[in-house]
Amino acid sequence: MLLLGIETSCDDTATAVVRDGRDVLANVSTNQDEFHAKYGGIVPEIASRQHVALLSAAIDDALSRANVSLREIDGIAVTRGPGLIGSLLVGVATAKALAYAVRTPLYGINHLHGHIFSAFLDRPETPPYPFLALLVSGGHSQLVSVASATSMRILGRTHDDAAGEAYDKTARLLGLGYPGGPALDALARTGNPKAYAFPRHRPPAGSLDLSFSGLKTSVRYFLESDEGGAAPVEDVAASFQAAVVDVLIARVNAAFDLAHYNAVVLSGGVAANSGLQTALRAWCERRGVCSFIPPPKYCTDNAAMTAAAAFYQGASARIDPFSASADPDLSFERSFNDVPAGS
Ligand code: KG4
Ligand code: ZN
Repeated sequence: MLLLGIETSCDDTATAVVRDGRDVLANVSTNQDEFHAKYGGIVPEIASRQHVALLSAAIDDALSRANVSLREIDGIAVTRGPGLIGSLLVGVATAKALAYAVRTPLYGINHLHGHIFSAFLDRPETPPYPFLALLVSGGHSQLVSVASATSMRILGRTHDDAAGEAYDKTARLLGLGYPGGPALDALARTGNPKAYAFPRHRPPAGSLDLSFSGLKTSVRYFLESDEGGAAPVEDVAASFQAAVVDVLIARVNAAFDLAHYNAVVLSGGVAANSGLQTALRAWCERRGVCSFIPPPKYCTDNAAMTAAAAFYQGASARIDPFSASADPDLSFERSFNDVPAGS
């Protein structure tokens, strides 16, 4: 089954062609960072205009790299939420028009489900259910219990900043530009993670929730202090990263205290973080649990994960090319069958 994936929920114009939810024949992603960098964050209006300018060419590019025509495609998978409304609308309107024109099934995918299915791409074995997904991106940070492709439950989520947001804001304080996650990660590798003891958020007993705004504020106050003003920037980066990683691993550990899972999936942009990957692999090895960590190109937003989610969610994700709409607030748990499937 060949699916064309389209993902425009935020600032990446992404398309892909994926066979059977696993073999990635083409994965195209046009990053818009250069247009947003001078504003220090994503400007929604610029993002949607860029999608309009780039999406048609990105679809042609994916099809030609995969060496298939639109008529050979067995279905189109598009991210329909959550995300920026203008950005989502460009992808959804395009996918609806294409699906109608070539009379092919249309699948509406929850962006966060897509991130989870990034762990299914380009590898011989798929994560065994039930698994725990740690989804850490620029917009979301949550632990998810995944019982099947269509049955997932959020166990804990951030009360304030997402992990990627904390990275980007802290990177800005350190003068590292936007998006700061990868730059902060690179700098942290050269510093001492024990140099400064930044706070680790602890939720009440039994809760798996997260919080990163206190950590970010603490780094800010530290940098404004006399000691912080003179501190080696790589040590601050490494100490910040150690605090983020400690909190995330503690939450994975707590989730396993409450229930058993066959594997841990790490996904979302922050899954590309070297410190987090090393710590999670070590934790999984100690506990005898398999870890599934996608390569960086599938950690950040991409359309191959959207096509993979559609393959596994099948009829539950089918939507009608006439009445389907983008939903910027699409619920994680109630994503299915709220739009009637077309014939
Ligand atoms: O999943 P994603 O591409 O977009 C959202 O859906 O949010 O995640 C982007 C986020 C940004 O905040 C970026 O700084 C962060 O992922 N990120 C990283 C790394 N690579 C990307 N954060 C820490 N370390 C990295 N290596
Ligand atoms: Zn994302």
